Amino acid sequence: MPEAPLPLAPALTTLLGRASVPPRLLHAPGPGPQALSLAVAAALRAPDHGGLKPWRFVCIEGEARARLGELLAERLLARAPETPEARLDLERTKPLRAPLLVAAGAALRHDHPKIPAWEQEATAAAGIMNFLNALDAQGFGGCWLSSAALRDPMVKQALGFAPDDALLGWIYVGTPNADRPRPTRPSPDAYFRHWSPA
Ligand SMILES: Cc1cc2nc3c(=O)[nH]c(=O)nc-3n(C[C@H](O)[C@H](O)[C@H](O)COP(=O)(O)O)c2cc1C
Repeated sequence: MPEAPLPLAPALTTLLGRASVPPRLLHAPGPGPQALSLAVAAALRAPDHGGLKPWRFVCIEGEARARLGELLAERLLARAPETPEARLDLERTKPLRAPLLVAAGAALRHDHPKIPAWEQEATAAAGIMNFLNALDAQGFGGCWLSSAALRDPMVKQALGFAPDDALLGWIYVGTPNADRPRPTRPSPDAYFRHWSPA
């Protein structure tokens, strides 16, 4: 007999419905201090081998977004002096696409005798996913994007990261358009299996 469908706990409903919201569909208001604090608290629930607490979330709002945009354009030009003006303009305006931009990263202990840097990055990345889910649960939308600037030492320094820390993503956050997409997902069946020893 097939299993009866289980009633879904609210947390699971959130997890099963989450989808990224592209920055162009994110608007004001962004999360206030309480919503943001809850999202970070959720991030800190990620598994953390050795309790190294690598999570770092740097929130960039208001005028600071334009200042970051200037820095991003400046650094792009420094890395690639031939960059056309239109591309520099795009870089300059990227942080303005959502009310809140979060530079999410990992403070890494490279000298740890037991826990390699990749595990610490995995902890930070798992935290970012919890952060996104917690924002979604509170009615906000988010999108995790990357760019070459994440690896730029001057960008990292300006945001308060050490040179050998990992800046893992730009998280754009805001209130989603009512018609934001929630694309369907593949059936889970193809993504797990039970192992039978030979
Ligand atoms: C580490 C990381 C970096 C990403 N960088 C980009 C990016 O630069 N550009 C992009 O279009 N999507 C990027 N994505 C994917 C988006 O965050 C998102 O997952 C994708 O648009 C699909 O949406 P979904 O989350 O609803 O599946 C990245 C995802 C991760 C985890």
